[in-house]
Amino acid sequence: VGHIQDVQELNKTKPTTIPERFVRDVTERPSTLDTTTTTDDIPIIDLSKLMNGNDPDDFHTEILNLTTACQEWGFFQVVNHGIDLSLLKSIEKVVKDFFMLPIEEKQKYPMKPGVVQGYGQAFVFSEDQKLDWCNMFALGVEPHFIRNPKLWPSKPADFNETLESYSREVRKLCQNLLKYIAVSVGLKGDVFEEMFGVAVQAVRMNYYPPCSRPDLVMGLSPHSDGSAITVLQQDKGSPVGLQIFKDNTWVPVQPITNALVLTNGRYRSVEHRAVVHRESDRLSIVTFYAPSYDIELEPIHDLVDENNPPKFRKYNNGEYSINYLSNKLQGKKNLDFAR
Ligand code: SIN
Ligand code: FE2
Repeated sequence: VGHIQDVQELNKTKPTTIPERFVRDVTERPSTLDTTTTTDDIPIIDLSKLMNGNDPDDFHTEILNLTTACQEWGFFQVVNHGIDLSLLKSIEKVVKDFFMLPIEEKQKYPMKPGVVQGYGQAFVFSEDQKLDWCNMFALGVEPHFIRNPKLWPSKPADFNETLESYSREVRKLCQNLLKYIAVSVGLKGDVFEEMFGVAVQAVRMNYYPPCSRPDLVMGLSPHSDGSAITVLQQDKGSPVGLQIFKDNTWVPVQPITNALVLTNGRYRSVEHRAVVHRESDRLSIVTFYAPSYDIELEPIHDLVDENNPPKFRKYNNGEYSINYLSNKLQGKKNLDFAR
């Protein structure tokens, strides 16, 4: 894959031109540079209305909101999600502190080609491929056997402990969201939990340094996630970087996210990308929640009948994950594997 330049280090040299490997072809450059706009239409789900269960009307309305969000957007923001603000702040702090460490320190946890764990840049498969204006630090979290303990950093001192608490809370959030997502397609709340086995949970932290030519580069190439659900946190101070592809345009968004692929195509994993900025950096912390590797996935039987034949074949989730992670990001095409 050739030498992958670290964008933070590159920035320190105050380059007058952007190295060719980061410069996108004209058709792939960010078209929307007006990153101050956000769309008010982006669905917001109030989880407390679903969880408290004291007002049936509220519950019903919120389930309908969730249906629209998943069907038309594949994406929503969650409020009253139950995770302590202080914990969200702590994780942001330790992650940012990690990225600010000297490069020699971060390189103690190198991301090896084809393995999305450690510090570096994931999804680079060839020398010809354009690189993202982003540094990543990715870790497997649950179940424990997917962890590589050598990659859990010793600095900052409270990193591991904070990630541990954060991941526990986000796991609960994923489980709750999946419960109501099941209900929103007319299924029993526990179908995904039963189907998933011991769910796989991984975290990917993305640091996007400023770039003198944000119009030429991409923070993160367009893709759709391969997880069942993704929860995305970005630091409040950051300008908008995430964009989702809807009705043929890129919509900028301040998120906590969701994407889902098991509902026989009723809910799809939304295509998205990240852009960068001239003056500001940006941090995002992304949790992927997915079924256990050893299970066979297929469209849920209750959603399939003569009028709705299965759109995806049965496949082994471990095989799918390997395929997904080892392939160049190809937008929605990762789902072709299951056709
Ligand atoms: C991602 O899709 O993994 C991250 C996007 C973002 O940084 O907002
Ligand atoms: Fe993503």
